[in-house]
Amino acid sequence: MTELAQLLAHNRKWAHERLAEDADYFSRLSKLQEPDYLWIGCSDSRVPANVITGLQPGEVFVHRNVANLVHRADLNLLSVLEFAVETLGVEHIIVCGHYGCGGLRAAIDGVRHGVIDHWLQPIRDIAEIHHQELRLIEDGAAREARLCELNVVAQTESLARTPIIQSAWARGLRLSIHGWVYGLHDGLLRDLNCSLSRA
Ligand code: CO
Repeated sequence: MTELAQLLAHNRKWAHERLAEDADYFSRLSKLQEPDYLWIGCSDSRVPANVITGLQPGEVFVHRNVANLVHRADLNLLSVLEFAVETLGVEHIIVCGHYGCGGLRAAIDGVRHGVIDHWLQPIRDIAEIHHQELRLIEDGAAREARLCELNVVAQTESLARTPIIQSAWARGLRLSIHGWVYGLHDGLLRDLNCSLSRA
């Protein structure tokens, strides 16, 4: 069996198992999704939102890009965000970074990579803003880990300043933004305690 055929075979087995557990599983999910969470994470294949949080299909709306950035002119992200807030009515938005992020490393390694350098510009800005703190961390890996956390916090703040979120809060919608970091090395999520909700 080819590798792709294996994926399709696995899918048939999975669908069959769902139906065996619950005959209405797909008919119910196909009519409605009511996720409580919007996840904004890195595209890294090792950080799958559903798997690491134990959430099932229908339980988390997901947007992922390289280094989990909130570019405020990113039509993709803004479209996801508006739909999640206005139509799905999610109550929690989780911005999740991860230690050992190749995107974050590429932002600061001083090497020219191409278009991605433009995408990653906000990380270099954050490194510059927090230069005083970062330069005191002698260990390179620890410094990178701290920048990863600072990036998540900055993206939660960036998200909070979007007109979509400001408007939701002004209308009294219950909506919080949270910053988490995932450890590739231990599989654990860490809450950075930088949650934002209606001022
Ligand atoms: Co990454």
